[in-house]
Amino acid sequence: MKVFLNASEAARILDVDRATVTRWIKKGMIKGVVRPDNTQQWRIPTGKTTSTVNTAAALVKKGKKVLLVDLDQQASATRYLDLEPDQSPNLYDVFMGTKPASLAIRHTKFNIDVLASHVLLAAIEEALEPGDEFKLTEILNPLKPSYDYILIDTPPGKAMLAFNGLAAADLIIIPASAERMAVDGVADLINHVQRIMWNKYALTHQELRILFTMYRATTSHSPAIIANARKIWRENILTVKIPHSTIFSKSYDQKTPLAMLEPKHQGTIAYDVFADWLLNYENT
Ligand SMILES: Nc1ncnc2c1ncn2[C@@H]1O[C@H](COP(=O)(O)OP(=O)(O)O)[C@@H](O)[C@H]1O
Ligand SMILES: [Mg+2]
Repeated sequence: MKVFLNASEAARILDVDRATVTRWIKKGMIKGVVRPDNTQQWRIPTGKTTSTVNTAAALVKKGKKVLLVDLDQQASATRYLDLEPDQSPNLYDVFMGTKPASLAIRHTKFNIDVLASHVLLAAIEEALEPGDEFKLTEILNPLKPSYDYILIDTPPGKAMLAFNGLAAADLIIIPASAERMAVDGVADLINHVQRIMWNKYALTHQELRILFTMYRATTSHSPAIIANARKIWRENILTVKIPHSTIFSKSYDQKTPLAMLEPKHQGTIAYDVFADWLLNYENT
């Protein structure tokens, strides 16, 4: 069920006046602002998998050793990297304790190492109970010395596997679509992280950044969405924006990260710039 905010509530969240919200709705720029905590928001693809895979490729190009962890039972990242998701070893074996993580890592021709997903991760999701929030953290800890970066692709939603992914991270990157009204989805996730993770579990070392994807520079729509988001989250929004391009679906279909398919494409360059930001972030 969709629960929409009224124009005044939306105006407050977006930090603009009510007339502006009404004007945007009339112009079709926003279709109404969904109340935060609406589960539907969590299902909207925002470029999580695309960003994880292409950031991994960019880091590898820069000589870094990278492990990608595919926590989503849909196994999109696993497939993107041309691995079969129904083969062993995979994360299911690791969560079940039948294989240590170090023996479950699969190598790809792209030099990205992967802890692959499996459809049975759905069973793990079911089996995880309160108290199991740090399973993935424990799984990944012994692997840390072997890698420069461990990138975790999370499933949509706030269920236990997603929580495990967030809890294991030192830095949480929230990809947000500059195509749709992204503010409410981001607000909900940030609220979740701050309320549950930071307050309840005292994961205070973590930082959050927002990476805008699917950005169309030639429309007023994408810049307007980012301008609004910037009013709320300010410097937590990264200056690099991932351009909208159908090349990303082609890259997925061809099971090849964009850097290997089109090394000079704007999309490749954008993930390069993001990878540079990551390298720099770590040094500060
Ligand atoms: N920058 C982009 N421009 C255009 N399409 C994109 C872009 N990033 C991702 N996509 C496409 O959007 C869809 C969802 O992306 P995906 O990364 O799988 O999202 P999520 O993991 O958040 O569900 C895919 O078809 C993907 O190819
Ligand atoms: Mg995904």
